[in-house]
Amino acid sequence: MRVKISDLCFSYGKRGREILHSVNCEFHEKSMTAILGPNGCGKTTMAKCINKINIPSSGDILFDDRSINDYSRHEIAKMIGYVPQFSNARLVGTVMEFVLLGRRQFIGWSVRDEDIEAVADVLEKLHISDLSDKNYGELSGGQKQKVLVARALMQQSDLYLFDEPTSNLDIKNELEIMNLGRRIVDEEGKSVAMVVHDLNMALHYADYVIIMKDGRVINQGSTRDVITADTIKDVYDVKTKIEDCGYVNPFI
Ligand SMILES: Nc1ncnc2c1ncn2[C@@H]1O[C@H](COP(=O)(O)OP(=O)(O)O)[C@@H](O)[C@H]1O
Ligand SMILES: [Mg+2]
Repeated sequence: MRVKISDLCFSYGKRGREILHSVNCEFHEKSMTAILGPNGCGKTTMAKCINKINIPSSGDILFDDRSINDYSRHEIAKMIGYVPQFSNARLVGTVMEFVLLGRRQFIGWSVRDEDIEAVADVLEKLHISDLSDKNYGELSGGQKQKVLVARALMQQSDLYLFDEPTSNLDIKNELEIMNLGRRIVDEEGKSVAMVVHDLNMALHYADYVIIMKDGRVINQGSTRDVITADTIKDVYDVKTKIEDCGYVNPFI
């Protein structure tokens, strides 16, 4: 699914200061797009607009040329496999039950064996089968993050929107999630939009990059074109060198 954001402005509350200032950007279909930018620049705010949690003050978001205004919040929730940056789910229940919630639009009043099997498959794919019977509330931050990804995968959406899905993960689990994102694109032909902080992860995995600063899109396009030493200096005020092997080296 292709997503096009045009002239999007957003403020929290009627008299709140504007957070997103006329944002224009595009998420290409069958691609992985990384959303980059300093803390507080509006990445999560934009992700929540795409997900219709935030309602913009002006502008539009098109899903394959159809406006977000034509969809209910519920329809959007079905269309997009969303992993929030912070989940305040104070859920009493097991991982199995929590992940099953990701499938609730497919489930009637009763849970069938195939629903349980689908959850078991996703847990296995993410190597967290051993967590199945644990209480969600008792998991570590990293374990919770993987369970949130599992819940989103249950939706079998055309578009996955992950907001810093790897921020609590060790390197092995981080690579696992990035590889999974890549497989969703390459093997299943879906679109993945991912807020990430690690420039090297973006450089290695993403097809496209959108870089934000102070509520604006500063640059967007093919990953190698966008992640340059000049742009990194502009956006983060950090001097780096892009090594020939494609590594952003900040130790210069
Ligand atoms: N619920 C909220 N109410 C008011 N301001 C908020 C809220 N959430 C975020 N903000 C503000 O919006 C700005 C962008 O935040 P956010 O989108 O979370 O940034 P990022 O995800 O890029 O770190 C910040 O200045 C933040 O303080
Ligand atoms: Mg954020």
